[in-house]
Amino acid sequence: MNIMIDTPVMVEDKGLRVPLASGQTGYFNYFWLRDNCPSSFDSETRERTFDIFHLDKPPHPQKAELAADGLSVVWNDGHVSTYSMEFLESYATGERRKDPADMPRRAWFGDHYATVARFSQPKLMADKTEVARWIEALLTEGVAVVTDMPDSHEGLTETVRLIGHVRPTFFGDFFDVRTHIKPTNLAYTAKALEMHTDTPAEDMAPGMQFLHCRANSVEGGLNLFLDGMAVANDLHREDPEAFRLLSETDIPYYCEHDHYDMRARQRVIELDEHGEVSGVTISQHMADIFDLPQEFLDDYYPAFCKFGRLLQSDKYMMRFRLNASECIVFDNHRIVHGRAAYSATSGERYLRGCYSDRGEMRSAYRAIMSEGRFK
Ligand SMILES: [Fe+2]
Repeated sequence: MNIMIDTPVMVEDKGLRVPLASGQTGYFNYFWLRDNCPSSFDSETRERTFDIFHLDKPPHPQKAELAADGLSVVWNDGHVSTYSMEFLESYATGERRKDPADMPRRAWFGDHYATVARFSQPKLMADKTEVARWIEALLTEGVAVVTDMPDSHEGLTETVRLIGHVRPTFFGDFFDVRTHIKPTNLAYTAKALEMHTDTPAEDMAPGMQFLHCRANSVEGGLNLFLDGMAVANDLHREDPEAFRLLSETDIPYYCEHDHYDMRARQRVIELDEHGEVSGVTISQHMADIFDLPQEFLDDYYPAFCKFGRLLQSDKYMMRFRLNASECIVFDNHRIVHGRAAYSATSGERYLRGCYSDRGEMRSAYRAIMSEGRFK
């Protein structure tokens, strides 16, 4: 039964109906209202300090009315809450909270190198607005080049710190790509490196990858990069069933040597909360033996190979030489990279790399660009 208390707010069994400025009537659940009373949040720590699990009985209003400063509710435990109408309006439809870091991605193709976004490291260090532009490029295109890097380990660390923290993997905090005497990874040889994303055998493969070129005077060794999202979107148009298989099936990846045995399952095509392609995970040298029903593989393998062949196509492949003092930064879940073979005796080639986190980068962007809920 509905009881009218001080029209026009309607007190119902489980929630209130409140007239909003939009002309609509908003419905608000009592638990939600009680939980999100402005007094629930500590202004200093900005954390929720109210704990709804400790209420003796379900929240119910003794009184609810519109006042000059918004909706006022007197609760059955005696607590009084006041909610601004703007606040109620913004949560009335159940739509997700707006996220400034949720930007449409722009697919790019093999001719992209001339237009890759470039940012000078000293400028980034001095200007937060420039950092925001850099993150925008990484969110929309998944790749950007930072130029004028200091020729030091610290130069890389301080650059990462602009958008997050160095995110360790089972290889450690940093890795050095040059020819190793006893290589445990193809990257540490002068051989060609097929197109891949990094460390898919990790539970949470790292998000943003940094490759800081400290020296590159060898013959060959061209960098190969492509936009995995562009390839996956084309596959979606050409072969929706192959796309479905690759975006719904977890396949095993591994990385095994004397002292480690990393294993994780990943989908080759990753979709975001809008159902759009947000990334890919691919690595022939780390794909484990598929432990899936053999009949299912009748369908899966052709789809997998179709995608793998598309990844070889010139349409997508950006070929370029990364120069000393440049650092390429890219989304390891979206950008597929590789390297042409080089002659190890023709000069020096040294790339120092590390990772940071996609989510932390989005956080850095929001902190620069938006007011948040507490400012
Ligand atoms: Fe790699």
